[in-house]
Amino acid sequence: MQIKYIGKNGDNSYIISGEKTAVVECMKHENAAYHIKAVEAALDGGEPDYIILDHVSPDNAGSAEALMQRYGGARIIASAAGIKNLSEMLNRDFDYILAKDDMTLELGGASLIFKILPNLPWTDSMAAYCPEERALFCGSIFNSDSGYFKNVISPYRDYAKNAADRLRELDILKIFPAYGGEITDISGVLDEYSEPEERKLSAAVFYASHYGYTREMAEAVAAEIEGCGMSTRLFDVCGTDLAELKDAIDSCTGFAVGTDTVNRNAPEDIWRLITAIDMVNGRGKPCMIFGSCGWSGEGVYLIERFLKSIGMKLFKKPLLVKFRMSGDEREKLEKLAADFAKELSGSEGE
Ligand SMILES: Cc1cc2nc3c(=O)[nH]c(=O)nc-3n(C[C@H](O)[C@H](O)[C@H](O)COP(=O)(O)O)c2cc1C
Repeated sequence: MQIKYIGKNGDNSYIISGEKTAVVECMKHENAAYHIKAVEAALDGGEPDYIILDHVSPDNAGSAEALMQRYGGARIIASAAGIKNLSEMLNRDFDYILAKDDMTLELGGASLIFKILPNLPWTDSMAAYCPEERALFCGSIFNSDSGYFKNVISPYRDYAKNAADRLRELDILKIFPAYGGEITDISGVLDEYSEPEERKLSAAVFYASHYGYTREMAEAVAAEIEGCGMSTRLFDVCGTDLAELKDAIDSCTGFAVGTDTVNRNAPEDIWRLITAIDMVNGRGKPCMIFGSCGWSGEGVYLIERFLKSIGMKLFKKPLLVKFRMSGDEREKLEKLAADFAKELSGSEGE
């Protein structure tokens, strides 16, 4: 048997030839002509029997239509969700085989065992293991980029751990991803996928403030929560790197957002932060809202509505003040922050 590699700028496809031949992964739409030429050259007049897609994304299936037209006898193999995705992309019938979990495809002298490993990060993701070569074809489940787990996979930690546990049972020598380079540090990558998330009780307070009134409130909130014994970080969202903000909002136990109102809206930097929240794992995270306004305070209410709509657990009603908070309003805010800190302490171990 033989594995041939086809690739252009990190966009990969593989050909596995036994008595039968399978093309594993397609290429981006802009690489379709390249893909077909490369398959033709590799098969030297032969025809593939199967086109296997470990996930059906617009990129990984980008050359599928052209390849299916060129090789009308080739049958598509993907997970059930993948077949559904492809039919939504092609909007026509096609000949396919559903890849089921642990199903073996015999190529004659070579074989592929399918592992259905969903949500990594595509809902339809699966991997195909070739025992003869100890090779795993993984679509986008793995990628050689060093930040791939943190940036792409980490919202799906439970699925990642499940995949790592299942793949550890296989004797894998190398991983061939749909994108990027070959992966040979198998235990390293599987360990990363099964590492439990470090959960430390902590709070983060974010604010945007043009004149300093909301900042004054944010400082009071942060001091109060910290005073309740909880590690608390305070961030001015304007001018702080989004990656740092995102990391803080995703890793804290709960957070407070303070915003002023400008032209009936919250400042763009506040939106930038809250639209970057990990909405997969962030659901149900406690948050409190406060801010200063001149007259109507739409910023605070819009933020409240958005955070509610993405499933955050809003702590009481937002505390909105006109211009600078009074002594009474400060007391109210401090009480709110102290109660919020208590709520967060109660979420320990959840
Ligand atoms: C250009 C501009 C537009 C504003 N638009 C609104 C508004 O639509 N609604 C409102 O309630 N306050 C509005 N304000 C008032 C501010 O929200 C108010 O001054 C607030 O106290 C500012 O808080 P900060 O010191 O945290 O920036 C506006 C202020 C400016 C300068």
